[in-house]
Amino acid sequence: METIVTTSRQQTLLVADAIEHVVSAMPTPCIGVSTGSTPLPIYAELVRRHLDEGLSFANAHLFMLDEYLGLPEGHPQAYRTFLDEHLVGHLDIRAERLHGPNVHARDIPAECAAYERTIESLGGIDLQVLGIGADGHIGFNEPGSSLGSSTRIKTLAELTIADNARFFTDAESVPRHVVTQGIATIRRARHVILIATGAAKAAAIAAACEGPVTTTCPASALQFHPHTTVIVDEEAGANLRFSSYYKATFDNKPTWQRI
Ligand code: F6R
Repeated sequence: METIVTTSRQQTLLVADAIEHVVSAMPTPCIGVSTGSTPLPIYAELVRRHLDEGLSFANAHLFMLDEYLGLPEGHPQAYRTFLDEHLVGHLDIRAERLHGPNVHARDIPAECAAYERTIESLGGIDLQVLGIGADGHIGFNEPGSSLGSSTRIKTLAELTIADNARFFTDAESVPRHVVTQGIATIRRARHVILIATGAAKAAAIAAACEGPVTTTCPASALQFHPHTTVIVDEEAGANLRFSSYYKATFDNKPTWQRI
């Protein structure tokens, strides 16, 4: 696990650079995209690079990390709507290349299994962008999730419902169930970039990077991943015991820019 503490602007540029590199270098790039507030500046930067610099996503496949269950198709808070609105709708990528489990199907477990097969059949995810919850969740793998899990239905934790209530009229309107890539699914991505900003994520980032590997903090499972880069701002990195070491060692440049 490589950890970089930097400014939020630098975080945006580093992650956009990593995505640009994969999209430009691979014949069929597969990128895992998360939702939430944290990646929004990154998606805005990718849209800018597409419009101003001609960065093309035409050959790419994008893979959703998770989706709410129970929202009608096209609901403004559905994650597919979110990704259309902030990313896919502005790029030269066909809508069917945004892959995700069909959460409106009758047999959701069969859809979850089919989603895993789709990821595999397209060669696996080259780069997965991940946010983190204040409780250490990745995707919607809440504390207690199996570290060996695949895509499946999960129930949201009360803290996540409260955190996500800001996107709905009230906490009551937040769906209780979701479909999420599992922790093993996420760990199969060849490169994972975990991003966080703000003091509310400081405890989760410290637990994920420097705590024990435990289901209590699902993001800690990334410590066993062969290529994870954690990029946080100063506030989210405030509880890292070794942050000065990271800064001194890596000079705020991840390995893919130094070699
Ligand atoms: C979203 C997702 C979640 C978020 C996390 C952080 O697809 O899977 O794990 O990444 O809840 O959300 P924000 O960025 O809004 O703080």
